[in-house]
Amino acid sequence: MTATASHGTGPFIAAIDQGTTSSRCIVFDRDGRIVSVDQKEHEQIFPKPGWVEHNATEIWENVQQVVASAIEKAGITAADVKAIGITNQRETTLLWDKNTGEPVHNAIVWQDTRTTALCKELGRNVGQDRFRRETGLPLASYFAGPKVRWLLDNVEGLRERAERGEILFGTMDSWVIWNLTGGVDGGHHVTDVTNASRTMLMNLHTMEWDEKILESMEVPATVLPEIRSSAEVYGQVKGGVLDGVPVASALGDQQAALFGQTCFAEGEAKSTYGTGTFMLMNTGDKVINSYSGLLTTVGYQIGDKKPVYALEGSIAVTGSLVQWMRDQMGLISTAAEIETLASSVEDNGGAYFVPAFSGLFAPYWRSDARGVIAGLTRYVTKAHIARAVLEATAWQTREITDAMTKDSGVELSALKVDGGMTSNNLLMQTLSDVLDAPVVRPMVAETTCLGAAYAAGLAVGFWPDTDALRANWRRAAEWTPRMDAEIRDREYKNWLKAVERTMGWIDEDES
Ligand SMILES: Nc1ncnc2c1ncn2[C@@H]1O[C@H](COP(=O)(O)OP(=O)(O)OP(=O)(O)O)[C@@H](O)[C@H]1O
Ligand SMILES: [Mg+2]
Repeated sequence: MTATASHGTGPFIAAIDQGTTSSRCIVFDRDGRIVSVDQKEHEQIFPKPGWVEHNATEIWENVQQVVASAIEKAGITAADVKAIGITNQRETTLLWDKNTGEPVHNAIVWQDTRTTALCKELGRNVGQDRFRRETGLPLASYFAGPKVRWLLDNVEGLRERAERGEILFGTMDSWVIWNLTGGVDGGHHVTDVTNASRTMLMNLHTMEWDEKILESMEVPATVLPEIRSSAEVYGQVKGGVLDGVPVASALGDQQAALFGQTCFAEGEAKSTYGTGTFMLMNTGDKVINSYSGLLTTVGYQIGDKKPVYALEGSIAVTGSLVQWMRDQMGLISTAAEIETLASSVEDNGGAYFVPAFSGLFAPYWRSDARGVIAGLTRYVTKAHIARAVLEATAWQTREITDAMTKDSGVELSALKVDGGMTSNNLLMQTLSDVLDAPVVRPMVAETTCLGAAYAAGLAVGFWPDTDALRANWRRAAEWTPRMDAEIRDREYKNWLKAVERTMGWIDEDES
């Protein structure tokens, strides 16, 4: 993927997006326009059903390559780049050796379910909400803390090495920043509040590691990075094409998209359609507890300003279901073909596809669920299934927006969307139909990188304030609802019936 827009002579801000399926680097100009892009996919490693890993060394090599290539495509040098920002797949967990820089194991990816039994055990007699008051999160295999514990328990000799202070933990932001700023040669071991809020080890109210939880989770404090704001200079790049450039932001990818969509006011929300789908609503300085299955998380923190919180609805499988149709089923050969195939029929033919591949995330948090295709008859074709695939994303969003309305009391007036799946017109129309609300997409659909760039630019004074960033937001497309209320209600009911059928598939002793 390349994009070259007309741009002035700079200066520029660069952003690295270390995502679940790929790493990319984008160079932006002062108007928030894309100057150049480079992107590289990395291997998805599935050692067992439910297990998902990444090779962190491969990822770091890819990051260096995409940075070098994006800078080259832009035809600029380090001197033209005022700062670089980092955004990343969240929760994916890595431990590495401080002295050699070598990972001690593959990174355990957020989708991985190997800690399901451990999470149950950690819940003790309290259950899933044991740490919710402190962390805003239910005990689920999704989060990083239990993954750290699993590694310490399962990699031979690791706990002893960790206790001797030889091992560092980080989500991918920490790994990338540590390497960028020198690695074994003085690299900075830091994370930002948004990433830390997904470990289940940080207290949302103090923004510090929670000693009691560390003790319960048996994670030694020696491995932990320092928690910093999302927009400040952590250090300078050491070596490579950006030698000397300040590393000035870090945000989990979904929080970065919230920032890139300029959702700076309380009540503003966005939904990002990539591998999974994540809707976040800015709740200002309020930590809103969810009673409807949403997460409470940190939205962002700019330098020494107060942190801004968010409510989040997380959906594990959306774009990855399209990938699955392509790679595992072979029913399409490109992701875009799902639209062509789905458009060849009028409706879903009675079929509903609930992709509970990693259990169900929001609003259910059920690790015992697994995927189902319900409503099959001899009538159903692959085109109907393609339609059910797209509808799955729309209905999962509907469940999240319903929960959001319940928890926040704010009715959805319009949904700001972004991410790779938003290029699918049929999906966007279906989304508007099932939400019964307008769906709007901005000019720059790469809001994840844009958000990281915005935060880095604010940190170094490249942009004066968030108002300047708001002025860059431009609407590119809008879809409005045109589905009959009666049909919507019937279809929603059917969808919920299909969801019920995913539950309880995994028996307790199987997990
Ligand atoms: N036209 C399309 N219709 C439906 N899905 C699509 C389409 N184009 C891309 N996708 C899906 O969107 C996803 C890619 O979107 P995007 O590039 O935003 O994700 P990503 O940011 O790379 O994900 P991650 O950050 O998790 O690596 C893929 O899962 C792909 O299957
Ligand atoms: Mg992404």
